[in-house]
Amino acid sequence: MNVKAAKTTDATVTVTDNSTGKTFDLPVLGGTLGPRAIDVRKLYAETGMFTYDPGFTSTASCESEITYIDGDVGILRHRGYSIEELAENSDYLEVCHLLLYGDLPNADRKQEFEATILRHTMVHEQLLYLYRGFRRDAHPMAIMVGVVGAMSAFYHDSIDIDDPTHRMISAHRMIAKMPTIAAMAYKFSVGQPFTYPRNDLSYAENFLHMTFAVPTEEYIVRPSVAKAMDRIFILHADHEQNASTSTVRLAGSSGANPFACIAAGISSLWGPAHGGANEAVLNMLNEIGSKERIPEYLEKAKNKDDPFRLMGFGHRVYKNYDPRAAVLRQSTHEVLEELGIDDPLLELAMELERIALEDEYFVERKLFPNVDFYSGIILSAIGFPTSMFTVLFALARTVGWVAQWKEMIEDPSQRIGRPRQIFTGEAERNFITLKDRL
Ligand code: SDX
Repeated sequence: MNVKAAKTTDATVTVTDNSTGKTFDLPVLGGTLGPRAIDVRKLYAETGMFTYDPGFTSTASCESEITYIDGDVGILRHRGYSIEELAENSDYLEVCHLLLYGDLPNADRKQEFEATILRHTMVHEQLLYLYRGFRRDAHPMAIMVGVVGAMSAFYHDSIDIDDPTHRMISAHRMIAKMPTIAAMAYKFSVGQPFTYPRNDLSYAENFLHMTFAVPTEEYIVRPSVAKAMDRIFILHADHEQNASTSTVRLAGSSGANPFACIAAGISSLWGPAHGGANEAVLNMLNEIGSKERIPEYLEKAKNKDDPFRLMGFGHRVYKNYDPRAAVLRQSTHEVLEELGIDDPLLELAMELERIALEDEYFVERKLFPNVDFYSGIILSAIGFPTSMFTVLFALARTVGWVAQWKEMIEDPSQRIGRPRQIFTGEAERNFITLKDRL
């Protein structure tokens, strides 16, 4: 694979400090595709000034070869392959290989990679006691953060981040064990015995088996459900520098071990503005309840004095339909039909989408359904409780986090992440002893 580092273009951007009249030329970098970026790395040294960009709306934090998004058009590609083609023709482990290694595997390599992942699906038996320390009513995402963070205590033989073999073993371990860990979080919450992984099943089938099988009867995974599950995993596998991935990179930039970094990513994903939105969408649809109440909720979403926002709508990067939402919308119809489920929430979601997409507020702000809008309905149909939705997102995103973490560690220009600030607090105060304080 060719390494395509960002290149300095012929362009420069000149900054003028009007207070002194001094000008500074800043280099402009360009990648393979996408907007160019002003290189401000020497700005502070040369001008004594920082850039200010809360929420990183105009900041590229790294170079990456993994995922490309054109949010204006609604394009998502992993290593050059469109998400639509991957969702249609590939499977999740192939996509994992693509994200981790840069290419789709050939038949031999695919078999080898699958065998490697399958070898790692069991978790250390001692981890079971960790689960038992949680309350049964704990949110499964809370359990995920704890258990994944604890993995460095169980797999410390592979956490030398300077060793490429260790990095890859950790990556394989995480991809392989995440379904087991997620299924165990579910089993613990419903009071059922943990189910061991089965290596004769595909990645998605095995996850469904570990989640839904009970010792008292045979559980047969429906091929259509396994296919839908696998597609959901593909659609969530990576999404360039989103909040949780940036969290993983920032945590990893200090040299922290990969398990700790992924636990940090899971924490970030949990928020309702990010991966927690899939759970929030279902709660919102249930709260709206009927088509007649949609206008009332749209008004709430538009009201700046009301904290309510239309969950599953809007995106920092997509100013067009999220291509993943389009695939999921189609899959939702297929799965519901296949399972013979007539879910009124799907009708409600489609009507909500229709009305919102015609509403001036949403049109002006280019707010479209995102990946979280339809995923909850399909996951409900498969049988998952809402509290597991974000866990499934975390499971699928693990490969993206690991691939991005690895890319960062292997980038020679990598340095510890350390943003600066504009200080707006008290300049200096004299200490007042307790007895003299008012
Ligand atoms: C994910 O980044 C990624 O790649 C993330 C992700 C991934 O795969 O990793 O794609 C996964 O996190 C999807 C997003 C899930 N979140 C939600 O569905 C929650 C609802 N959406 C929003 O809270 C919001 O749209 C965000 C958080 C997704 C994006 O926030 P931004 O980029 O900061 O957008 P913004 O706040 O600047 O919005 C611009 C305007 C504002 O109005 P004005 O102040 O200009 O008048 O649009 C409004 C916002 O108030 N707006 C919404 C809205 N989303 C934005 N108004 C009502 N409902 C919404 N959902």
